[in-house]
Amino acid sequence: MSTDSTDDAFPTDRPAVVTCGLPYANGDLHIGHLRGYIGADAFSRALETLGQETAYVSGSDMHGTPVAVNAEKEGVSPEEFALEWHDQYEETLPKFNVDFDNYGHTHDETNTELTQEIVRTLDDEGYIYEKEIQVAYDPDADQYLPDRYVEGTCPYCGAKARGDECDEGCQRHLEPGEVEDPTSTITGNPAEYRERTHKFFEVSEFADYLTEFLDGLEGTSNARNQPRQWIEEGLQDWCLTRDMEWGIDYPNGDNETTEDIVLYVWVDAPVEYIASTKQYADRVGTDEYDWERVWKDDGDIVHVIGRDIIQHHTIFWPAMLEGAGYNKPRAVAATGFITINGKGLSTSRNRAIWAKEYVEEGFHPDLLRYYLTTTGGLQQDVDFSWDAFQERVNGELVGTVGNFWYRSLLFAYRNYEGTPEADVSKEVAERIEGAIGETREAVNDYSLRGIGQAATQLAQFGNEYIQRNEPWKLTDDDPEQAAQVIRDCVQIAKAVGVFLEPIAPDKAQALWEQLGEDGDVADAHLEDALESPPRNFDEPGELFEKIEDDRVAELNEKLAERVAAAGDDESDADEETESDDTESDESAAMADDAATGDLEPLLEDRIGFEDFQELDIRVGRIESAEGIEGADDLAKVEVDIGFETRQVVAGIKQLHDLDELPGEKCILLANMEPAELFGVESNGMILAAGDEADLLTTHDDAVVGEKVQ
Ligand code: 2FM
Ligand code: ZN
Repeated sequence: MSTDSTDDAFPTDRPAVVTCGLPYANGDLHIGHLRGYIGADAFSRALETLGQETAYVSGSDMHGTPVAVNAEKEGVSPEEFALEWHDQYEETLPKFNVDFDNYGHTHDETNTELTQEIVRTLDDEGYIYEKEIQVAYDPDADQYLPDRYVEGTCPYCGAKARGDECDEGCQRHLEPGEVEDPTSTITGNPAEYRERTHKFFEVSEFADYLTEFLDGLEGTSNARNQPRQWIEEGLQDWCLTRDMEWGIDYPNGDNETTEDIVLYVWVDAPVEYIASTKQYADRVGTDEYDWERVWKDDGDIVHVIGRDIIQHHTIFWPAMLEGAGYNKPRAVAATGFITINGKGLSTSRNRAIWAKEYVEEGFHPDLLRYYLTTTGGLQQDVDFSWDAFQERVNGELVGTVGNFWYRSLLFAYRNYEGTPEADVSKEVAERIEGAIGETREAVNDYSLRGIGQAATQLAQFGNEYIQRNEPWKLTDDDPEQAAQVIRDCVQIAKAVGVFLEPIAPDKAQALWEQLGEDGDVADAHLEDALESPPRNFDEPGELFEKIEDDRVAELNEKLAERVAAAGDDESDADEETESDDTESDESAAMADDAATGDLEPLLEDRIGFEDFQELDIRVGRIESAEGIEGADDLAKVEVDIGFETRQVVAGIKQLHDLDELPGEKCILLANMEPAELFGVESNGMILAAGDEADLLTTHDDAVVGEKVQ
């Protein structure tokens, strides 16, 4: 996923900042939010284990119609409403071990001043101009209708859209006046258009700059590829102001503000990344953390966001930074969505796992952190079900990590009162060094799953090692060898703790304390995994607890009941999906559609086993996928099949989000005759089911290149 950056790999000698998208201060947090905040937190912690100086900052997004509309429904002022939610977020996020160095909000003085200063600079540099535009207006409500006050049809993809975003379709940002057939969300009446003067930022001037910026941008491939397409289609200038009262006033050059209009929420929201970093530096001192170096010079800026806000972070934001003389982001890592039991997360249907609910159910935060960061790659949609949660917790955390930790430390405690006096064997030292390398590589690939896997695979190795060496049989016959094996296991246990800390910080700390280590595991660096633990420690306890079947049944029932109470019958595939604040129902809709197609009849003719054996079907991994120019349906896909990489032409351009495919396993018919389509050679066939081209894959750990038989 990373670009060619090996000569500048993490850790660098520059300060880094990691940010996560600001939550709108307008409602309860759910698992969709948590994926981003936990993901960014884990990444920031992982950078620190590499020895990178890192600050993790964010804040509440207080302005705009997402807040104003909800505040109005509650009959309170947007300020009061947003501040209340802000307080709640500050209280809730630490419960998930999300450990910000600073968590501010966009309505505070730091952000207000910084935003106005940046806008003034853009104005002084000549990047802002005024234009008369048609703005939606509701005569009955006697109100202009910016953004979420108006709904209509997306002019790009035809989906139902909000005034400023195609949230249920192509995810594009929409400019005022763009949405077709506009309707007021206040009265439901068709909106009128009225002429107003607004301020525009000349984003179009930055097309060449942004193209180059994207070429060097690290993070996930979707954050590079989608904006490249938007730039090719031609960039539009960006309307910076809105007809409303709630927001930051537009600043004029003379320090005056322009009345009646405020800055669009997406202007001041990302500035909070800077403001929050500044607040952190002001608190700890600029000798400790140099925020100006980060934002105005050469610091490493990493944004973790949801994939619905790629355009804001890879077009508008870097253009603003460049125009105002700031540094550019090093990476944008855009996560996929969360689905619940295979259906789109929907707050309005109560089909969500709420942050509050998870805490109340009494589950440890690190279990969810593990699930959300290591189920699938960062770009992939992650499905949450209590069953899958139970399976991964019981299998990987209880069965692999917890079991290894407990059995090693208990054996060590009972037989040696702690770490046996012996040197770590060469085999184990090399295995731990290997895991250090894997972790470093995973961080540089922005792969949280890779970070988690380095830890769990090491624990798995530990289990195999103890099983293979059977120290319990050696204590009498060969005590020296028994001590050696347990010494190795204690070292592996400590190393797993160091590597798992970014994902499961509490559990890693508990292990740290069981080992008798001083201080915080969060301060340990990867190399500390090879440092000897203290000689003595106390009797250990088990750190992970199995989730029982009846608990899962109870949770499933609760979820089904409340979804039903919200009016959604889980079995009703045709029901229209509603829009939602943060998550998309698209994957659910696709899954539902596929179930309604007519099945092709079975073939009468049978083939022999020999005929089947003539098909050389292999497990592959998609390396890249891009649309073929001029072909409506075809995509060029590079597939790694172990022995080589195959270029294949597949009819999936319209059916899959091509940016989401790299990294996915697929099944490839490798001895298909080569063909040429639209001038592109196809050397194999990717197997897929049905009209929607549901790509076949494997469900366990079949390795790339393995034969399907
Ligand atoms: O989409 C959202 O939920 C926005 N509140 C994210 C803002 S991120 C940033 F740019 F500030
Ligand atoms: Zn659209």
